[in-house]
Amino acid sequence: MEIITSVKDMQNKVMSLKNQGKTIGFVPTMGFLHEGHLTLVENAREKSDYVAMSIFVNPLQFGPNEDFERYPRDIKRDEQLARQAGVDLLFYPSVEEMYKHNRTFKLSVENKVDILCGSKRPGHFDGVATVLIKLFNIVQPTYAYFGMKDAQQVAVVSSLIDEYNFPIELIPVETVREKDGLAKSSRNVYLTDEERKQAVVIYQSLQLARELIEKGETNPEVVQAAMEEYIKSHSSAVIDYVEIYSFPDLKTLTTLSGLVLIAVAIRFTNVRLIDNMTMEV
Ligand code: PAJ
Repeated sequence: MEIITSVKDMQNKVMSLKNQGKTIGFVPTMGFLHEGHLTLVENAREKSDYVAMSIFVNPLQFGPNEDFERYPRDIKRDEQLARQAGVDLLFYPSVEEMYKHNRTFKLSVENKVDILCGSKRPGHFDGVATVLIKLFNIVQPTYAYFGMKDAQQVAVVSSLIDEYNFPIELIPVETVREKDGLAKSSRNVYLTDEERKQAVVIYQSLQLARELIEKGETNPEVVQAAMEEYIKSHSSAVIDYVEIYSFPDLKTLTTLSGLVLIAVAIRFTNVRLIDNMTMEV
């Protein structure tokens, strides 16, 4: 595995691979790797000649009171995991390397962001879109892999690729979970032991939604209310949102039908956790 920290070196490397007609599968991450990230790599391995991963904790996508400074980082461990998983190129730039210019442009995501994490984290998707435009231009991947755990991110990136004509195929990958159903996340390390036990309510509330819908419930408000009630009565978490939309357009539904996204965000003392499920109704 080659570790590359400069934009120029990465572009030169990619150029030479492209000249040889090689395909590149790209897995963008913020590091502190877990099985979720490594499953994206596994998927990328299957389709591409070369797998590139980026590890970059992107300051632009964190709000002023969010966890940019204390976001977990462990590059030595990440290098090992990435190598074992079969990453060929690890792009690991510094913040100065990625943001060396005085910015002339400011990107603003106009749609799909007034709901879910977009409304709770103002500017978050502007930061995600900005860094991905840069990473896509640097890595020039054939395929880009994103986890469905961040379903709104998948929906926004899908529009980014379409509207800015990136010749990239977006490949969404199913959420990887712990044994009890908790979605794997770099932020799970912030949970206390007691919170870790309670955190399974997110997954259980999604299963409850599935059961209700499978039994014929089509009113999104009824499903939302049942999920909220379940979370409140089984944990000390504060609910950030429980919302249901069409997927991937993220439109409000009065009656559940078609492919729907059921999404949850809750807060414990030191951590905000998200999860979701898509299902055909
Ligand atoms: P990060 O949170 O590190 O996630 C990197 C990728 O791993 C994302 O596509 C995310 O959806 C996926 N992922 C995380 N947990 C997962 C799980 N349990 N199962 C499957 N996939 C999972 O998302 C970001 O970084 C950033 O916003 C980024 C796209 C890198 C831009 O900065």
